[in-house]
Amino acid sequence: MLQLKKITKTFPNPCGDDNTVLNKLSIDIPDGEFVCIVGSNGTGKSTLLNIISGLLKETSGQILLDGTDISNLPEHKKTQVISRVFQNPSLGTCPSMTVRENLSLALNKGKLLNLRKCLRHTDDTLESLLEGISLDLKKFLDTQVQFLSGGQRQSLSLIMSCLADPKVLLLDEHTAALDPKTSNEVIALTNDIVRKKNITTLMVTHNLKHALEYGDRLVMLHKGEIVMDVTGEDKKNMTVEDILEKFEYAV
Ligand SMILES: Nc1ncnc2c1ncn2[C@@H]1O[C@H](COP(=O)(O)OP(=O)(O)OP(=O)(O)O)[C@@H](O)[C@H]1O
Ligand SMILES: [Mg+2]
Repeated sequence: MLQLKKITKTFPNPCGDDNTVLNKLSIDIPDGEFVCIVGSNGTGKSTLLNIISGLLKETSGQILLDGTDISNLPEHKKTQVISRVFQNPSLGTCPSMTVRENLSLALNKGKLLNLRKCLRHTDDTLESLLEGISLDLKKFLDTQVQFLSGGQRQSLSLIMSCLADPKVLLLDEHTAALDPKTSNEVIALTNDIVRKKNITTLMVTHNLKHALEYGDRLVMLHKGEIVMDVTGEDKKNMTVEDILEKFEYAV
């Protein structure tokens, strides 16, 4: 279980009032739950993910994973249990290395090996990772990642971030830079992977259709607070119009 307890984040502002972006935000997320997070621009969604991943430190509050306080773990320690995929397809992979090399590195995440040993993997192992993956990724095993399309890169980032079976996966608008068709393919791949591996997932998206179609729970943030939190039948019965209405209310 991932538990956020009264997370507050205030950014100092030398020219005026400090900016409190998250305000005593609390939420319990059971193992394997897939949470979609929506909310207007600047409402604290990325800040929340940055705090969970350790990129930013909360001003106050606690983060517990399976009952252990991980609030003070440095980011490099957190990456052993928490993975993330960014909005920008250029992040999350090594552009000058091939797909094969990137996958090999991800397979050895956390191991103390030199680069040559890290890159030693049989074709079968690597090809099997890309079996059935859309966007023909398997054909590009020996292509440098910088030459892949945005969708192919995001698919690769996603596969790489889940190879080490993280406990938590953080997705910050990871399909936002993709065309609608590719975005649908990457979101379907996301769903396949997190369901198969039962990874606790927090996915920030502005795509309300995706937020309704995927995930077990839908949370709306507004001004750093949770203003909507629906699961089960309530989520299934929601429509895009219902969410838009909440947005209006939250503005
Ligand atoms: N490192 C930082 N230093 C100062 N202010 C920051 C920092 N990071 C975020 N903020 C501020 O926190 C607020 C929330 O930003 P955040 O990026 O979390 O919003 P968001 O909900 O992800 O928005 P969007 O939907 O546009 O991505 C903004 O006012 C932003 O300027
Ligand atoms: Mg953001």
